[in-house]
Amino acid sequence: MAPRPSSRLIPRRAPNKFIFLIVLILLPISMIGLFTHYQKITYFFRPLWDKPPPSLTRLPHYYAENVSMEHLCSLHGWSILPKPRRVFDAIIFNNELDLLEIRWHELEPYVTKFIILESNTTFTGIAKPLFFSLNRNQFSFAEGKIVHDVFPGHIRPPGSSKDPFELEARQRGAMTSLIKRAGISDGDLIIMADTDEIPSPHTVRLLQWCDGMPSVLHLDVKHYMYSFEFPVDYWNWKPAVHIYAPSTRYRHSRQSDFVLSDAGWHCSFCLRHLKDFVFKMTAYSHADRVKRREFLDCGRIQNIICRGDDLYDMLPEAYTFRELIKFMSPIPRSASAVHLPAYLIENADKFKFLLPGGCLRDPE
Ligand SMILES: *[C@@H]1O[C@H](CO)[C@@H](O)[C@H](O)[C@H]1NC(C)=O
Ligand SMILES: *[C@@H]1O[C@H](CO)[C@@H](O)[C@H](O)[C@H]1NC(C)=O
Repeated sequence: MAPRPSSRLIPRRAPNKFIFLIVLILLPISMIGLFTHYQKITYFFRPLWDKPPPSLTRLPHYYAENVSMEHLCSLHGWSILPKPRRVFDAIIFNNELDLLEIRWHELEPYVTKFIILESNTTFTGIAKPLFFSLNRNQFSFAEGKIVHDVFPGHIRPPGSSKDPFELEARQRGAMTSLIKRAGISDGDLIIMADTDEIPSPHTVRLLQWCDGMPSVLHLDVKHYMYSFEFPVDYWNWKPAVHIYAPSTRYRHSRQSDFVLSDAGWHCSFCLRHLKDFVFKMTAYSHADRVKRREFLDCGRIQNIICRGDDLYDMLPEAYTFRELIKFMSPIPRSASAVHLPAYLIENADKFKFLLPGGCLRDPE
């Protein structure tokens, strides 16, 4: 039998005062730590408390230049239509003017109407210029196809607890009726995506020509941050195409169990000027992330862009510790400008800031 440890080493009476003092010092310190880093701590332990969303069924996507549409449709298990579906592209616009120009040039040959809704306030209730209205002449190439409306926003008094997502939901409701006013009919194709989520042209052509696909289908778009120089190692499935029916509502969340792989690009914070970053960071639905004023300093933002680092100094949403560690490091630079929107490559000079080697931004 092992000898019992000498009870003399354990003080008979706990030194109450000492413990009390330690608690008195440690408790406030850990409370402050917990309070200031609450988000980081919960994100760090996400693999323990959260499960990934139910998985989507990934449809294989076949494409190569010059392969006939009939053959492409049949590879997907679909048939070819006698004439293509009409396509409507609907976006709620914030301030991404350059990406809007690229988006509309890419999609213009296939799209019947470009539906664009903008508000005079942000989701977080700050007055904002009508960036599209003010720059509409930049889009004269699409003028005959534009259906534009302004959503009357509300200024939110500072300290008000109104949920930014509620304003966002009301704008989506307004979009549902704007789509009807644009003259959509049953069986037309409607793209529901953010401005910076651009379906590739061959994907739109495939979906407008083939019959037999799911009536609601998400599009897996490759994610980039700040420019196409920083491809992020994951995909965004949120954009969707619907075959329009009277029950169709404009949404930007999970709407189908199916997602078409490799269907386009998602370029987050792909903005030309540093002041656009500051604007977007305050206007964004997740403006609660902007916890400290220095987050909005232009020098800091410029350095982060060129390092491929995180603007909000936040941990990513990851569901395993391995993913978390990978996402915590800066995004590796890519030197590839292959398989990008054609209009971007044709106008590489104008859009230097979106291409490899172009990370330095103009302040204004
Ligand atoms: C594409 O198809 C056209 C007509 O079918 C043909 O003339 C052309 O050479 C093809 N291009 C390539 C790269 O195969
Ligand atoms: C936004 O537009 C609505 C309707 O035109 C107007 O009533 C409201 O005052 C405007 N808000 C701002 C912040 O400009």
